[in-house]
Amino acid sequence: MTAPVDFIRDFREAAPYIHYLRGKTLVIGIAGSLLSGSTLQTLAADLNLLASLGVRLVVVHGSRTQINTLAEAHGLTPQYHNGRRITDETTLAHAKQACGMVRSDIEAALSFGLSQTPLRGKPLSIAGGNFVSARPLGIIDGIDMGYTGIVRKIDTEAVRQRLNDGALVLISPLGHSLSGKTFNLSMGDIAEAAAVALQAEKLVYLVEQEGILNEHGQVLPNLSGQEARALLAGGRVQSNQQRLLQSAVNAVENGVQRTQILSGRQNGSLIAELFTRHGVGTSVARNAFMNIRQAQTGDIPDITALIRPLEEQGILLRRSREYLENHIGEFSVLEHDRRIYGCVALKTFADPDIGELACLVVSPEAQDSGYGELLLEHLLGQARSRNIRTLYALSTHTGEWFLERGFQTASSEALPPERLSEYHESGRKSKVFVYHTGANG
Ligand code: COA
Ligand code: ARG
Repeated sequence: MTAPVDFIRDFREAAPYIHYLRGKTLVIGIAGSLLSGSTLQTLAADLNLLASLGVRLVVVHGSRTQINTLAEAHGLTPQYHNGRRITDETTLAHAKQACGMVRSDIEAALSFGLSQTPLRGKPLSIAGGNFVSARPLGIIDGIDMGYTGIVRKIDTEAVRQRLNDGALVLISPLGHSLSGKTFNLSMGDIAEAAAVALQAEKLVYLVEQEGILNEHGQVLPNLSGQEARALLAGGRVQSNQQRLLQSAVNAVENGVQRTQILSGRQNGSLIAELFTRHGVGTSVARNAFMNIRQAQTGDIPDITALIRPLEEQGILLRRSREYLENHIGEFSVLEHDRRIYGCVALKTFADPDIGELACLVVSPEAQDSGYGELLLEHLLGQARSRNIRTLYALSTHTGEWFLERGFQTASSEALPPERLSEYHESGRKSKVFVYHTGANG
C-alpha cells in the first residue's frame, strides 16, 4: 500500500501548530449571521475539535441578525448611529431574547458536535456568567444611544477559572452595570476586550467576508499591526470592514499575538487558518509574518536541519558545527511564522570588492513560493550596502536558477586566490557564476 502523500505532507505541516496551540487561549468572535443551520453545526464541530486538542476557548457570539429579525417581526426598523445600534427599551428586550436563543442554539450544536467527534470521552462543558460589566455609551452627536453599552471590565479571574476547569467560556453580547442595568454590547467590543484582558494568544473573528479585502476585493493574507494601521489611515479598507480591522490592530497593539479574520461560512476554514502555514483569511500580527534576519547561534540546529540533507546529496559543501558557530555572522535566515524555512550566507574575502553567495537553501516543503528569490534579493542588498561589486556563486546543481536571475557563467580562475585554492582542494568542480551588483565600490 502506498503512503497517502498529501495527508502526510499536510499532517506534518499541521503538527507544529497543534503542539503550539495546546494550552493557549483563543478568543473567537462569531458573527450572529453564522449561528444557525449547517454553518453553526460545522463551526461547533470545529470548536469541539480545538477544545479536544487542549486549546482554551472563549467564544463571543454576535446577535445582530437575530435582533433585526425580531425587530422586523414587530414592524420596527433598526436604528443606527455611526454604525452602532441605538437600543431603546424594546430593542433591549429583543437583544436579550436574541441572545437567549442564540446561546441555546450554540449549546445544542456544541453538544451535537461532540457526539460527532467523541474525542475526549467526556462532554465539553460550557460556562456562562456575568463576566462582562458595562456602562452606557451615552449621548453621541446629540443622539441618546439608550441601552447601547461599552465594555467596562472583563472578569478575567472568573473566566480563567472556568478555562482551568476545562470549560469553553461562551459570552453573549450583553453586559451589566453595577447598578444592575443590562446593556446591549457589540460582539467585537467584547471579543477584543476579552482577548486583551486575558492576553490571549489569538483573537479570531469568524465573519461573512473571507478576510480583510483590498480595493480589488482580494483577501490580504498577512498584515503587521503597522501595515493595518496604515491601510486604515489611508482609507483603503471598505467601510464595513474598518471597525473589524481597527479591533484587530487594537488587540495586537495591546498584547494579543495575532488577530485572524476569516469567513465562518466555508466549511473547515477555522481549521485551515489555524493549522496551515498560509491560512485562509487575514492575519494581523504584532510583527511581520515573514522576515529575513541575521542568523544567531541559536539558529544553528535549524540551519543544520536545512543543509544536512543537501550535503549528503553532494549539493552543498559539508559545513561542521564548529564552522557554523564561527561563521554564523555570515548567515541570514528566512523565518515564516516563527519557523525557519531558508538560509543564505555572504562570504567576504581579503579583496573588499568581492563576495560570495553561499549556502542558499529553501526547505523542500516551502520551495517554489519565491523564498529563494527573496533570500537572493536580501543578499544582494547586503552586498551592495557593503560596497561589494562582484558576487560569486558556486553551484553543482543550481546553475540555471542563478542564470535566470541575472548571474553569468565565469571561469573559476576569476575567483579570489584564497577561494580558488579551496575550490581545487574540494574537487567538487562546481560551476562558477558571477553577478555585478552595481555597487560603486
Ligand atoms: N535549477 C533551475 N531552476 C530551479 C532549480 C534548479 N536547481 N530549483 C528550483 N528552480 C526553479 C523552480 O522550478 C521555480 O521555477 P518556476 O517559478 O518557473 O516554477 C523557481 O526556481 C522557484 O524560485 P523560488 O521560489 O524563488 O525559489 P525557492 O524558494 O524554491 O528556492 C532554491 C530555490 C534553489 C534555493 C531551492 O530550490 C533549494 O534550496 N535548492 C537546493 C539547494 C541549492 O541548490 N542551493 C544553491 C546552491 S548555493
Ligand atoms: N496557522 C498559522 C496561525 O494560526 C498561520 C496562519 C496564517 N494566516 C494567514 N491568514 N496568513 O497562526
